[in-house]
Amino acid sequence: MTKRIAVLPGDGIGKEVAKGTVQILEAVFECFHHDYSFEEALIGGAAIDAEGTPLPEKTLKLCLESDAVLLGAVGGPKWDQNPPELRPEKGLLGLRKALGLFANLRPVTTYPSLLHASPLKKEVVDGVDMLIVRELTGGIYFGNPSGRRGEQNEVAVDTLEYSKSEIERIVDKAFQFARNRRKKLTSVDKANVLESSRMWREIVNKTVEKYPDVQVEHMLVDSAAMQLIARPNHFDVIVTENMFGDILSDEASMITGSLGMLPSASLREDNVGLYEPVHGSAPDIAGQDKANPLGMILSAAMMLRYSFQLEKEASILEEAVAKVLKAGYYTDDLRVQGGKRVGTKEMIEKVLDAINENQ
Ligand code: NAI
Ligand code: MG
Repeated sequence: MTKRIAVLPGDGIGKEVAKGTVQILEAVFECFHHDYSFEEALIGGAAIDAEGTPLPEKTLKLCLESDAVLLGAVGGPKWDQNPPELRPEKGLLGLRKALGLFANLRPVTTYPSLLHASPLKKEVVDGVDMLIVRELTGGIYFGNPSGRRGEQNEVAVDTLEYSKSEIERIVDKAFQFARNRRKKLTSVDKANVLESSRMWREIVNKTVEKYPDVQVEHMLVDSAAMQLIARPNHFDVIVTENMFGDILSDEASMITGSLGMLPSASLREDNVGLYEPVHGSAPDIAGQDKANPLGMILSAAMMLRYSFQLEKEASILEEAVAKVLKAGYYTDDLRVQGGKRVGTKEMIEKVLDAINENQ
């Protein structure tokens, strides 16, 4: 049966990087004689302009019927003054919720030719290859009660709540990822203070019985924030709750030093997923052929790996990216000394060449 991929380019550079990424995926599928279909739909500002809503019915329907969703980025100054329900990001949040995505994955990898792009010392970031697994549907961002209380609304309330099943499903997923990598899992919590963290720890300690080949450690979140910067090479897979993951994944992105390089995936139980680069629509460089497409291409590699179990094909994409960087090609955001500056389109061509040379 043909697998369906929904492509939502979105706004700004989202459109530029999505286009090239689809070209690259088509080349890979053709090479391996896989049967996949790409169907494009509107989201964000583009959808507001055309349909009067950031997440049109037919976009949602397409995504719900697809095996994976590939998304560029949404937003831009044109829609900044819109009322909340007509904001581009509303489309993205609505889509994540409708798809029931609970596991957010952010790999952080450094490349030898880009080590100087990090604000951290070269020797500290050299060789980093970690995966942060963040719970996406529970915790304090979705707490009940939340809001204001008291006669003069002088008390503000947020509630941190997790159910056993919510923790079990994310922890189990993280063990699976660790098993397929270097078999090391760091569970980050605040078990010295929070009851939800104590339950989190119990569940991790129980789940490891199912994964005896994976080595587990527990780390308090404050200590993890330090260790991420002090010795990022210590980590393989990190699993943590929603808010801790939000903060730690932004912190970890600075290990690579370039937003344009970072991919992400959001998954649910059956491995249907939403794949998108971490960066936004970059209105300052949109339409100028300057955007780095590698974050989006690496997101596509994650799609091959996690939604379609095409590990070999995913590695081919990742190796092609590494090869192009090693050859010295760079987009503006990377500023490689002594390399060759290229635009979005040429970078995509270089990746295509690297894939073809590999066959
Ligand atoms: P941004 O990520 O779009 O840009 C931040 C800076 O990084 C800019 O100087 C930009 O030129 C540069 N940059 C980002 N991606 C790049 C790439 N691939 N290649 C080269 N340079 C790159 O974040 P910003 O400026 O805060 O937001 C711009 C718009 O994007 C806003 O409307 C915001 O709401 C939206 N946004 C959307 C996201 C999404 O769709 N997931 C995530 C973050 C922001
Ligand atoms: Mg954040």
